[in-house]
Amino acid sequence: MCGIIGYVGERSISDVLLKGLKRLEYRGYDSSGVAMFHGGMIEVHKAAGKIVGIETLLADRRQSGVEGGIGHTRWATHGAPNTKNAHPHRVQDIVLVHNGIIENYREIQKLVQSKGFTPKSETDSELFAFLVLFEMTDSKVDFIEAIRRSFLKISGNSSVVVMSERQPGLIVGIRNGSPLVASWNSEHGAMLASDAQPILDYTNQVHYLENYDMIVCRKSGIEFFDVHTAKPIKRPATKLDWSADRLDKNGYPHYMLKEIHEQARTILDTLNANFATSGGHIPFDFAPHPGLDQLSKTDRLSIVACGTSWHASLLGKFWFEKLAGLSVEAELASEFRYRSPVLKKNQVVMGVSQSGETADTLAVLQDVNKRGIPTMCISNVKGSTISREAKSAFYTYAGPEIGVASTKAFTGQILMMLLLAGKLGREAAMADSSGKAMIEIEKMYRELFELPHHLANGLLEESATSRATKAAALATQNSKGFFFVGRGYSFPIALEGALKLKEIAYVHAEGYAAGELKHGPIAMLEPDFAVVVLAPHDLWYEKTVSNLQEAKARGAKIIAVGHADDKLLPSMCDHFIPLPINTKKEDGKPVLSETLIPFLLAPIMQLFSYQIAVHKGTDVDQPRNLAKSVTVE
Ligand code: M6R
Repeated sequence: MCGIIGYVGERSISDVLLKGLKRLEYRGYDSSGVAMFHGGMIEVHKAAGKIVGIETLLADRRQSGVEGGIGHTRWATHGAPNTKNAHPHRVQDIVLVHNGIIENYREIQKLVQSKGFTPKSETDSELFAFLVLFEMTDSKVDFIEAIRRSFLKISGNSSVVVMSERQPGLIVGIRNGSPLVASWNSEHGAMLASDAQPILDYTNQVHYLENYDMIVCRKSGIEFFDVHTAKPIKRPATKLDWSADRLDKNGYPHYMLKEIHEQARTILDTLNANFATSGGHIPFDFAPHPGLDQLSKTDRLSIVACGTSWHASLLGKFWFEKLAGLSVEAELASEFRYRSPVLKKNQVVMGVSQSGETADTLAVLQDVNKRGIPTMCISNVKGSTISREAKSAFYTYAGPEIGVASTKAFTGQILMMLLLAGKLGREAAMADSSGKAMIEIEKMYRELFELPHHLANGLLEESATSRATKAAALATQNSKGFFFVGRGYSFPIALEGALKLKEIAYVHAEGYAAGELKHGPIAMLEPDFAVVVLAPHDLWYEKTVSNLQEAKARGAKIIAVGHADDKLLPSMCDHFIPLPINTKKEDGKPVLSETLIPFLLAPIMQLFSYQIAVHKGTDVDQPRNLAKSVTVE
């Protein structure tokens, strides 16, 4: 939940730390701080609020030198988000940053007090520095050994990065749970960070630390050790395919808007990465992948995820059931892990996580692995903890998603699940010689390659879709509340639309299956309430329109989203948002299979919330109280 950085090398330490912290700010942004050597001493600078606070503090204190520095951006767990609790924490000559939770902090607190010390902050993190101090003074071990021994005394998932005035030019990190990624080369020195993004500015060769790895960083190189045995270990470098230019806004006012617009590219990149090329023709064969063989053998799939990824999983469930006839449950990871789920040997548990670091999703996969049930995951981050915990990993190719509200990653996730469902369905159709099913799935694959074009058209600023979305958002932004409703494939999109509005505009919104309105929520409706009705031409259209009428009859403002040439919807609603597709003149059938409509609906919902948030003046990319990567339960 927090962002950690450490650097030893020839570059300006303050510049590297600040630039790195900005890359990590999406992980938490309620306070930040840096610690750097200056004249043989470590200076610590901290500020409440975003990185800009620390940037201002450092404006005339830029440091260079090879002694090193560490930095931190915080998402508060223990202790209020203020300067006192901001990291780095100092205890005498020991200075550290920490990500995670020290579960036995009370016990350590008592020890610290019993030795006559009073911590300066309310954090569990500061206590670790006392443990290191006690090891050095009482056990008389050196700094590195003191850190190693101290780490074995804490419980819970934590990563720490520590430096000391006794050891200029040395930074020591240990990972357990919260990720740590490192790099070294002779040109830029050694770097350590919570994820690869700050490192990508200098190199794409990174080393992922495993749990209970300790890294010792010096300008001259990095070394890895097993925390339990203190023995040296090897952690070979991985080459990343993300480049630093994908981490910038590229002229957009917000990352979220840029990422909404990048969804056409996400679709193409994910398609290209998964299908084996076949001489210019639309390919139907997947590139070989061990997870595919596993999926082909399974007769039950449990998908676990949180937040937006859970909404994506609900859509995955629809598609796996419909196209592949597979029995699927899509579960909230935080609930699944504390139930007693009945798991069979021939089933698969799949974690879906953009970041690949979400604590609850990770915990489910760890438990399931222990039970010997096959696990897999869909993640957007290669080398992430979840992708390494799962027995096989499928990747989405959304590129780095910086806006805290997930947009393009959602599209990547639903596409990956649709591709897998289609692959299983096509295999089953071939085995049964079911020509009709096969034709349907191949038609859908062909349409998938056209989808980026429809989506890009719809997102053009001057398109009818974009203009109507903006107009509807502005006209209804002051509504007392919002319901988002849809049936079938549109139901998970309704849930996601409501989540987006809450997350970035802080407006109360709920998503419902449209048929559920009359079972209670309808009591809320009155003229200053808005209902967003997702009503594309699909199997559920007539029923959804009936639900729209029920809401309209109660005086609510209706925003309807439907096919561009829908004749009925515009007359029934206050604001009509046309999808960037219509029906074919020849046979009256939609130009795109209904299966693919969610790929157009989701970006419209994102844009709708974005417009309201911008008008309300909220912090779109870093909404209050949130963090991108939720590594605590
Ligand atoms: O990284 P993950 O996909 O595992 O994250 C899960 C949720 O925390 C995440 O989707 C969250 O709901 C987003 N803020 C949604 O925009």
